[in-house]
Amino acid sequence: MQIKLNNPLDMHLHLRDGEMLETVGPLSADSFSGAIIMPNLLPPITDKASLLGYKQRINSAIGDRDFTLYMTLFFKPDYSRDFLLSIRDELTAIKLYPAGITTNSEGGLSGFDIDELRPILTTMSELNIPLCIHGETNGFVMDRESEFVPVYEKLAKNFPDLTIIMEHITTKASVDALDKYDNLYATITLHHLLITLDDVAGGMLQPHLFCKPIAKRYEDRDALQKVALEAHPKVMFGSDSAPHPQDSKECPGCAAGVFTAPIALQALAELFDKNDKLNNLQAFVNTNACRIYNIIPTEKTITLEKKPFVVPDKYGTVVPMFAGQELSWSIV
Ligand code: NCD
Ligand code: ZN
Repeated sequence: MQIKLNNPLDMHLHLRDGEMLETVGPLSADSFSGAIIMPNLLPPITDKASLLGYKQRINSAIGDRDFTLYMTLFFKPDYSRDFLLSIRDELTAIKLYPAGITTNSEGGLSGFDIDELRPILTTMSELNIPLCIHGETNGFVMDRESEFVPVYEKLAKNFPDLTIIMEHITTKASVDALDKYDNLYATITLHHLLITLDDVAGGMLQPHLFCKPIAKRYEDRDALQKVALEAHPKVMFGSDSAPHPQDSKECPGCAAGVFTAPIALQALAELFDKNDKLNNLQAFVNTNACRIYNIIPTEKTITLEKKPFVVPDKYGTVVPMFAGQELSWSIV
């Protein structure tokens, strides 16, 4: 059995820089038609020169593969209207990180005061620039995302014309918020569709499944699966594929991030197939995203086949999710 996916998109991707970019860039470009590129480099992408320079380095890493780069800026509350206008054509979204909440987010935002945020969020609404948010408080690790839901709601209510993307949602609370506000959308990762905290820390500790936000409870995973498998119109696939070298994962102080880019479509096909929902995969990996972001990606068809695929132990220095295991679908 085969299925064809038209222009599959990864709406949340970390490509890093330098040698790591050289390893992982081509892998994403082999599977996907385009991706939203996260700006959390060191230093983060906060101006036009660094955004264009990064885009150029990604393009040289992926060579002649067709792959559309949807670039983002790292949110700063003091971006001016003139600056945003000057960069508008190069920009797909702005990514907001609460300060210190995850990898390379030290320069993020320390408070969500509506009056302080009003100028920039009004400008973003007027210029139709979506705001992508890593929605976690710095509370107890299992509650961080659900504690953040009121912040999403406050922003959605106060800026009804702003497109707000709840990134990599992991909880039923976030799924429930989706239908309450017209301007709230979400990305969902592969790993949060498949694992719970049990898989990370219920037995021997699994560093390659450790990420932010941490995987949650079974009822949360079920809620995510439900909206993904039905391709709820407000959710889209965003891998949050976040490569770290093996020695930064298998050590005390393990870095957060799961590397899934080269195995994501195969594993999604397996999940959708098992649930008899293959017909909804196209909407989850493309149609919803194109509508929500108003984008038209590079034409590219990816054919998947129900044929075993043994996931490599490593790609360069990075250990992928399902390393050494067999998936039931492969890319032709
Ligand atoms: C991401 C990374 O490594 O850049 N890590 C992660 O655990 N997801 C950052 C992020 O998206 O939180
Ligand atoms: Zn991320």
